[in-house]
Amino acid sequence: MSNPSDFFSNKRSGFGMMPDMEEEQFLRWQNLLEERTGMCLAPQRKSFLQTSLGIRMRELGCDDYEDYYQRVTTGSGGAIEWATLSDRLTVQETRFFRDPDAMMFVKNHLLKMAKTSAQNKPFELWSMGCSSGEEVYSLAMLADECLSPMGINYSVTGTDLSTVVLRKARQGIYPIRKLETLPVSYRQRYCTAIENNEYQIAPLLRDRTCFTQVNALNLDAFPVEGLSVIYCQNLLIYFRRWRRREILNALAERLVPGGILVTGLGEMVDWQHPDLIQVESNKLSIYVRRDSNKQIGDR
Ligand SMILES: C[S@@+](CC[C@H](N)C(=O)[O-])C[C@H]1O[C@@H](n2cnc3c(N)ncnc32)[C@H](O)[C@@H]1O
Repeated sequence: MSNPSDFFSNKRSGFGMMPDMEEEQFLRWQNLLEERTGMCLAPQRKSFLQTSLGIRMRELGCDDYEDYYQRVTTGSGGAIEWATLSDRLTVQETRFFRDPDAMMFVKNHLLKMAKTSAQNKPFELWSMGCSSGEEVYSLAMLADECLSPMGINYSVTGTDLSTVVLRKARQGIYPIRKLETLPVSYRQRYCTAIENNEYQIAPLLRDRTCFTQVNALNLDAFPVEGLSVIYCQNLLIYFRRWRRREILNALAERLVPGGILVTGLGEMVDWQHPDLIQVESNKLSIYVRRDSNKQIGDR
């Protein structure tokens, strides 16, 4: 045993005696993660990386970081293994109505757009980095509440890098404790109790949503535009600033005039775009696309 504290941390994480990761190895894994996901892993998170890799390597009966690196980066088997690993290395925490102020803004803005809308095209909303779907269904609830009574159609698309969370999102099944942040009226209206203390999102909303794998680093592969709402929270925070700026610039282009880009508070403090106006608020980080005709909602 080289170091008693290593022994205890290994024991706690339950993956036995994986060798300590050398600095050079850490840099290789750090680069791979950033290159493929945009996520920048701080040096302080080396033990997280080591633990996560160690658990997966034990499952595969592999005890050498270099061998596992080759396995992840080689051939079609590597792509499959990468899908499993990247799902474990990315933060996927989410909640219904996680940012109630931003959600309230979206609701009011949808109503405003609907009232001033000249055309009758469906409203399209996009949640980028949607994890297991709670954000998508929260937006769908708001859209349904605001737009359906006015006879306006809508759709909400959720995209994420991880196919594992997307599978959960499509099912729309959540344990009762996940509904705690969901206003009761929405729960009653849009969720149905099923077995085992679980609830499923009503077909009415599931029919208006779709989920697909999109890497935020490769938005060209998802050429969707004409969006009324782009909701992108708690994803860019893990990226370098230049990358955040590049992604936000690309998102700005996809909004309809009067459409909104919702980011997380503090995720991009010094970013501006010539076509967007930032909403003045110390609780929100939301940008509205200018309307050349000065009329919100001219979709
Ligand atoms: C912390 S969750 C945020 C979920 C939700 N937006 C929210 O705020 O509650 C971040 C999500 O971004 C996804 N993600 C990480 N890197 C990504 C990338 N390069 N492209 C797309 N999604 C990514 C993760 O899989 C994860 O589901």
